[in-house]
Amino acid sequence: MSKAIGVFDSGVGGLTVVKELINQLPQEDIVYFGDIARVPYGIKSRETIIRFSIENMLFLLKQEVKLICVACNTVSSVALPIIQKYFRVPIVGVLSPGAREAVYASQNKKIGVIGTRGTIKSRAYDLEIKQLDPKVKVKAVACPLFVPLAEEGWTQGDVPLKIARTYLAPLKEAGVDTVILGCTHYPLLKPVIKEVMGKNVLLIDSAKQVAIEVKKILAQEGMLNAGARGTQRFYVSDNPEWFGQLAKAFLGREVKNVEKVTL
Ligand code: DGL
Repeated sequence: MSKAIGVFDSGVGGLTVVKELINQLPQEDIVYFGDIARVPYGIKSRETIIRFSIENMLFLLKQEVKLICVACNTVSSVALPIIQKYFRVPIVGVLSPGAREAVYASQNKKIGVIGTRGTIKSRAYDLEIKQLDPKVKVKAVACPLFVPLAEEGWTQGDVPLKIARTYLAPLKEAGVDTVILGCTHYPLLKPVIKEVMGKNVLLIDSAKQVAIEVKKILAQEGMLNAGARGTQRFYVSDNPEWFGQLAKAFLGREVKNVEKVTL
């Protein structure tokens, strides 16, 4: 039996990455773990995020996955280098693919990054971008209220618009021509972010690039699945019904086969 791709996130947001993986790798089986019991990670300390990430990795490895995709931007920013040191399985984070695309796309070499407090405080995006092109200027801001807005489905209208205007003002002032949506939830707020930033500013949603990277690694390692359409299994550490309902916004469909597990 061929092995599945493992994906984990602090909660439901990583389903935006699963959606792209299904699009680009329809033959692959996917095992998803959402740490609903301990979400949000974006406000937790580095030590805690590393500990949670190791536990999530161990759970997915027990499911015998062949590659693990860290769909959470906060984990990718704060813990990825550490977990990559401890595990031999290929691990793909969401940070490098998004940073690469932004550096490639930016014309004026001014890039904005938005994410959770943890992601922004880590400065991981800044460092990654500077390594790719030291001339790029990065303006990074945390937008913590975007996560609950996306989960509430409150992605249109005056309230999100006002919040987005306030958060994004420094990016507009800095004159960025490209913005990395550095959080699993932010693709849901794309229309509002676009309205504030203007149509000439490019929004980078790294999920697509992540799926391309996963495909590349599986091809290189000779681990691509051939044959029938893949299946998806969903595990959470709490509240499977809530996860199943929210899946509609993040994955495009509700999911019923969600199992609660204790790590
Ligand atoms: N998944 C997180 C991220 O992409 C957002 C939610 C959280 O704070 O846990 O950074």
